[in-house]
Amino acid sequence: MITNPASGTRIDEVAEGIYRIATPVTTTPGGFSFNQYLIVDEEPLLFHTGPRRMFPLVREAVEAVLPVERLRHLGLSHFEADECGALNEFLAVAPQAAPVCGRIAAMVSVDDVADRRARALADGETLALGRHTVRWLDTPHVPHAWECGFLFEERTRTLLCGDLFTQPGAEHAPVTEGDILGPSEAMRAGLDYYAHAKNTRAMLERLAAAQPTTLACMHGSAWRGDGAQLLRALADVLSE
Ligand SMILES: [Fe+2]
Ligand SMILES: [Fe+2]
Repeated sequence: MITNPASGTRIDEVAEGIYRIATPVTTTPGGFSFNQYLIVDEEPLLFHTGPRRMFPLVREAVEAVLPVERLRHLGLSHFEADECGALNEFLAVAPQAAPVCGRIAAMVSVDDVADRRARALADGETLALGRHTVRWLDTPHVPHAWECGFLFEERTRTLLCGDLFTQPGAEHAPVTEGDILGPSEAMRAGLDYYAHAKNTRAMLERLAAAQPTTLACMHGSAWRGDGAQLLRALADVLSE
């Protein structure tokens, strides 16, 4: 469903109760896209706010599914503008909401910058949203940032995988079962967004062990299939 005809922002359900909000960007060469994921439940969670300047578009898309003031959790993988640039804007319109992130992100950035204290999750800690439960997984420096980590939603086996499998281009299907590793590797060939830390394979193996069946990418299509196999294939190409 298109929620803003001028920007092309849209919202689509990609797993049970999990919605992908996507905004195409055509001002960069080749185009790009920014996604956020909304988990609709008793305690709704928005994973990533989008850049501050996109706040009106993301808010409008959230409002197509639920009143924005119902948001309880504002999750983020790591501290960059596209992950959490509109954090304070969302905190202002959702009085019950708090940031949700890893302990390093809370300590280093979020508890200083955000207008409300973060719910800082330890590695492996879970947060019950109602029917859905998310588990925080620390992935320092994978793909980048010391504070990096992801949320895994256990009911739908959806890995909110942030910048992993970043695909170039502005327009993508909400969900695909096609190849996303090829496009993301083409992107990385021109703009390598990985830190290439020594423990990259071990971090990806931990994500694979969760056996996700949906990979909720932040840039490009979400992906459905054998997530463990695809994460291991990613580890292989990164070590070449
Ligand atoms: Fe990033
Ligand atoms: Fe990102």
